[in-house]
Amino acid sequence: MSSECLEIVSHSVDETIALGRAMGKQLQGGEVIAMVGTLGTGKTHFIKGIALGLEVADVDVVTSPTFTLINEYEGRLPLYHIDAYRLEKAEQLAALGFDEICCGSGVVVVEWADRVWPLMDDYKPISIHLEHRGESERALRIENLPGYVKLVSPPKVRKTLQKQPPRPKIKGAFF
Ligand SMILES: Nc1ncnc2c1ncn2[C@@H]1O[C@H](COP(=O)(O)OP(=O)(O)OP(=O)(O)O)[C@@H](O)[C@H]1O
Ligand SMILES: [Mg+2]
Repeated sequence: MSSECLEIVSHSVDETIALGRAMGKQLQGGEVIAMVGTLGTGKTHFIKGIALGLEVADVDVVTSPTFTLINEYEGRLPLYHIDAYRLEKAEQLAALGFDEICCGSGVVVVEWADRVWPLMDDYKPISIHLEHRGESERALRIENLPGYVKLVSPPKVRKTLQKQPPRPKIKGAFF
């Protein structure tokens, strides 16, 4: 695991999903991911991106688990999605088979992970903090990312592309 802390600003829902997707594509199974951030900071959208990267066929089904508390999506690797917001006690998570799925070969993502941190901590999770910066801006702080996951900030990519000079227009040339 890397001790680096990655700070990325997302300027839109699409950028948040793209970041999650980039992460999901590189996950190898066995990762536990802790999502921390207040209401509406984009935790579920980031997880939608992870699901896309894991090739979950229908990502519209990725919503915060309500009645079930834990959702399982079938993809290249199984993706388990837990929302700790509705848990009354951290022990409920243990009763849901949390330890078994964390020791399995899938990917486990927990929204509101700070509410069950003592249980999460054992698995040295990748942690993702999201903060509201404006109507469509969110600051993401990613820690404990495994070395095999490389993330490039979409805004930086976009800036690099924008800096390139326009192509010269040559009459009669074929591109
Ligand atoms: N850059 C952004 N990234 C993600 N969501 C954004 C962004 N800008 C605006 N939004 C909006 O913020 C909301 C994020 O919703 P989402 O369900 O992902 O949040 P959440 O953190 O999971 O909330 P909850 O704690 O209620 O589960 C959506 O309404 C989305 O349109
Ligand atoms: Mg959510």
